[in-house]
Amino acid sequence: MAASAGAPFGIGFSQSRAHPTQLSLGFSHSISSSASKFVSLHSDFSLRAVDNTKEFQSPRLTPVVKAQGGPRQMDVDLALSPRVNAVKTSNTLAIIDQATALLKAGVPVISLAIGEPDFDTPSAIADAGIKAISEGYTRYTPNAGTLELRTAICQKLKEENGISYTPDQIVVSNGAKQSILQAILAVCSPGDEVIIPAPCWVSYPEMARLADTTPIIVPTCISENFLMNHKLLEATLTEKSRLLILCSPSNPSGSVYPKKLLEEIAAIIAKHPRLLAFAMTGWRLGYIAGPKHFVSACAKIQSQLTSGASSIAQEAAFAALSMGYAGGETVATMVNAYKERRDFLVESFGELEGVKISEPQGAFHIFIDFSHYYGAEVKGFGVIDGSESLCRYLLDLAQVVLVPGIAFGDNTCIRISYAASLATLREAFGRIKKALVALRPAAPL
Ligand SMILES: Cc1ncc(COP(=O)(O)O)c(C=O)c1O
Repeated sequence: MAASAGAPFGIGFSQSRAHPTQLSLGFSHSISSSASKFVSLHSDFSLRAVDNTKEFQSPRLTPVVKAQGGPRQMDVDLALSPRVNAVKTSNTLAIIDQATALLKAGVPVISLAIGEPDFDTPSAIADAGIKAISEGYTRYTPNAGTLELRTAICQKLKEENGISYTPDQIVVSNGAKQSILQAILAVCSPGDEVIIPAPCWVSYPEMARLADTTPIIVPTCISENFLMNHKLLEATLTEKSRLLILCSPSNPSGSVYPKKLLEEIAAIIAKHPRLLAFAMTGWRLGYIAGPKHFVSACAKIQSQLTSGASSIAQEAAFAALSMGYAGGETVATMVNAYKERRDFLVESFGELEGVKISEPQGAFHIFIDFSHYYGAEVKGFGVIDGSESLCRYLLDLAQVVLVPGIAFGDNTCIRISYAASLATLREAFGRIKKALVALRPAAPL
């Protein structure tokens, strides 16, 4: 996956405010890492709860337990960082765990929950990875990525996206996730607001929380293809607004921001110098592109976090970018397959009563509004009261795994991944339809 920063908007920002939480995080670390040493060396040493750090707004939990550390007992502070306590665990995991258990028990479950393509890595890319290993490209690369790869990324951005960057405006990371988190850490101070149009990818709000900022979730509607317009953005802005995370194509909806809408949003951003924007596109090896001072800040964080991305993956990524415009014929074949699958799902689900669909323009997910079926009571199951219970019902009855929309900030919808063959999708659709008929026997399906 790749993340590219909003250079088209060309907004400046100030990095002058220090990160007041830095010191306390380091301190907590040294306490916990030294704890096990003290168990054996100083069995009479007692760890106590550390003072709640003033900078943090959320209360720090400081349970102290008795631990058996040799002949004598000791107190151990089990407190976790308030930053970790602020992060929510994914509520999609429970249903995936349930599906895994069913699969292990031999139940023929179809999973349409996956968030990655079902195609294998094209052989030209895989071969480049193998060649990198056999030719010894197995050492540290420059922190920001090899010059060859960063040059190839600049070429891709110019030819396919019409935006100009130089290699010193690119940082290659271990996936888009790392690029996005580094970007948030590089520009946000505690208390800043990060604007996230919803439905949104599950990690954005949690990354904002990890950076001690406040995620501001802005709901969008299916009738507007889940796109945030400039009026909605303007109504959300405060003096604390620092970042807008725009994802196109979106996960989970597959919506793509048209140029005109992006220009309208850019005009609002230009009026607010504190506000920065990021746009994401999907490649496996992550990179960020943006103004030099901002990209250098991301590189600084990366240099202390992971150093550069894997040397082998970078060789493979270079090969991927050498496959021609937009991935050449290999990727065109995949895109055609995705289109065929998307059209099948849009048409099939579109025939079901009460279902609302926004046709995805990118990615490989469709986010369908099934709220028409909420409120039904199923014998032995209970009331279907939202996306999570409908997903559990569909897993139970249809044995198809889907991801509840609530995980993405929209409880009316369910995400269906079409990173699966057309035959699998046909089978899954048949099963889902049957389960919905059972839910609403009177519905003319
Ligand atoms: C919108 C979005 N951003 C970021 C990521 C994470 O990308 P990566 O696996 O490259 O870290 C994903 C993965 O599904 C995604 O959908």
